[in-house]
Amino acid sequence: MNRIAVFSVVAVIAVAAIFFLVPSPTKSPQGTAAVSGPPATAGPAVTLAKGRTLFLQNCMQCHGRGAKGTDKGPPLVHRYYEPNHHGDIAFYLAVERGVRQHHWRFGDMKPLPRVKRGDVAQIIGYVRNLQRKAKIF
Ligand code: HEC
Repeated sequence: MNRIAVFSVVAVIAVAAIFFLVPSPTKSPQGTAAVSGPPATAGPAVTLAKGRTLFLQNCMQCHGRGAKGTDKGPPLVHRYYEPNHHGDIAFYLAVERGVRQHHWRFGDMKPLPRVKRGDVAQIIGYVRNLQRKAKIF
């Protein structure tokens, strides 16, 4: 009896070992291969330092230090300008085409042709960071 019991335990272990050790066809190396290709974030890196400098040079005179607003323009750190209300496209359009007075009473914002799209991308990164810090989104 004992021998039979030992034999069956060994047999069960052996069968289990074969079952787990033999590679199954679904675990082929192809299935686990990493997807290769260029990184998703192509183009120049957005950095807060660059965005801040460009904002100070081009936007601060109206939108204020830390985008808190002045007597010439509204704060961009404001719930009006969070991403669901004014997506990034609103920033590109504001710079390219200007903005007609509609939310405030500061007058229109004129287009700023010297500020290029890549610069606006940097500025957006800076402003979104300020908005996040102010817990606007
Ligand atoms: C000469 C002043 C002035 C400067 C410089 C200026 N803005 Fe403005 N901007 C305004 C005013 C005024 C408004 C508000 C218009 C309104 O809604 O009544 C505004 C509105 C905006 C808006 C909201 C657009 C919308 O769709 O309602 C964005 C975004 C914006 N500015 C981004 C910028 C950025 C980025 C810069 C710098 C590259 C900049 N502004 C420079 C005056 C200025």
